Amino acid sequence: MNVAVFGAGYVGLVTGAVLAELGHRVVLVDVNEQKVEHIMAGIPPIFEQGLSELLTRVRGTDRLQATTQASQAVASSEIIFIAVGTPPLADGSPNLEYVHQAALAIGQGMVSGASYVIVNKATVPIGSANLVELWIEDGWSARYGTKPPADLFTVASNPEFLREGSAIHDTLYPDRIVLGADETWAMDRLTTLYQPIIAQSFVAPPETPRPQDRGPVPVIKTDRLSAEMIKYAANAFLSTKISFANEMANICERVGADIQTVMHGIGLDTRIGPKFLQAGVGWGGSCFGKDLSALIYTAKEYGYQPRLLESTQEVNKDQRLLVVKRLQDELKTLKGRRIALWGLSFKPGTDDLRDAPALSVIGELLRLNARVTVYDPVAMTNIQQQYPDLDIRYSESALEALDGADALVVLTEWDEFQRIPLATIAQALTQPILIDGRNLYDPKEARHLGIRYRGIGR
Ligand SMILES: NC(=O)c1ccc[n+]([C@@H]2O[C@H](COP(=O)([O-])OP(=O)(O)OC[C@H]3O[C@@H](n4cnc5c(N)ncnc54)[C@H](O)[C@@H]3O)[C@@H](O)[C@H]2O)c1
Repeated sequence: MNVAVFGAGYVGLVTGAVLAELGHRVVLVDVNEQKVEHIMAGIPPIFEQGLSELLTRVRGTDRLQATTQASQAVASSEIIFIAVGTPPLADGSPNLEYVHQAALAIGQGMVSGASYVIVNKATVPIGSANLVELWIEDGWSARYGTKPPADLFTVASNPEFLREGSAIHDTLYPDRIVLGADETWAMDRLTTLYQPIIAQSFVAPPETPRPQDRGPVPVIKTDRLSAEMIKYAANAFLSTKISFANEMANICERVGADIQTVMHGIGLDTRIGPKFLQAGVGWGGSCFGKDLSALIYTAKEYGYQPRLLESTQEVNKDQRLLVVKRLQDELKTLKGRRIALWGLSFKPGTDDLRDAPALSVIGELLRLNARVTVYDPVAMTNIQQQYPDLDIRYSESALEALDGADALVVLTEWDEFQRIPLATIAQALTQPILIDGRNLYDPKEARHLGIRYRGIGR
């Protein structure tokens, strides 16, 4: 099928490259010229497991193109995804301006005689399919001066659930595909597009092998509003699960229980499940905070106070700064203290800094006049480029960051950090203080080595 994808970011690029791998002809449309040039040269503009190999391969087949010119890509496409960013505004509602611009461009690029399914893959507030429909009509009218012909296009919803760090794997082997469409022909077209994934009939790429026992993928076919709501409900539930684990950790600390054992104990219950129960410095990333705020905003628009969701947010906000309180407990004043900070990205496997807990921790440490030296295996370039005015020091390696440090704070659970022996950490620090924001290390071993170890909830 001929497919266009607006927005070649984490979602759009991965979706486009995977669809090309499955045999579709895909054009990525992005307003960022540099991104487009990189993609055309087969160089991934983001760090994502397996993306380099995938991009090289699909660029080699010519099934994946990238352009800044929307009109050509739109005219000949049967399915057009909108996968542009929807970042939060100050009031918590998502900024739909990028979606608006994409929809206008789609409206202007369509030609009569064709039929288009335009798909909201970006996470957009419930009801946005209607809005996108109007904006596409506006685009068409601006070009042709008339209303678009009936049956020229329809808007569908196909929310995305991929996780950065395993985005290609999640796209090829999803837990489910959610399709929201009001017209049967649109639903059928989307089902055909995804058929190789639904039936798991494609040849698995060598760098992203199919998990053993992977069966057909369940498809939820529903109306557009329910599809849009599924995305928000999923992220609200996942962030609530983590905030729940953090609340339990805070109670564990006070009563003397161990959160790791407690969460293992509840996670074995099949009604609960073991995932997303890790206590730590809280959730971050481009989605959870933004989507939770958007859902809270939506609920309030309809006069409903979503108290559980608001608490999820508050618990997370406090949790981020817990490591700073730990440092204050251990070091008393933080003025002029040298703090080594390992891990910047909001989770391992990605260079994404959006709403990363590390940014909150760095901000608070700088406010308290500490001197901060950071290290991350992949996010160093991003922090230097995106926050050039941040008064922090950068290290070439994890151990270099410890040189002369009064304490180490660990904020991202990269494997690299787990492999460094505690004895090495103890030797390198001026004062053996380790604030383990991800519960990576064994507290007993740390204490045995003379490290003043503070984890979360243990
Ligand atoms: N990142 C994730 O893990 C993830 C997971 C699920 C859903 N989502 C949702 O998917 C959407 C995209 O997220 P992302 O992380 O890929 O964002 P991103 O910021 O990485 O990418 C967005 C891209 O859209 C481009 N863009 C902006 N305006 C455009 C326009 N008018 N025409 C064409 N391109 C335009 C930008 O240049 C950028 O490359 C968001 O709504 C997000 O909530 C993200």
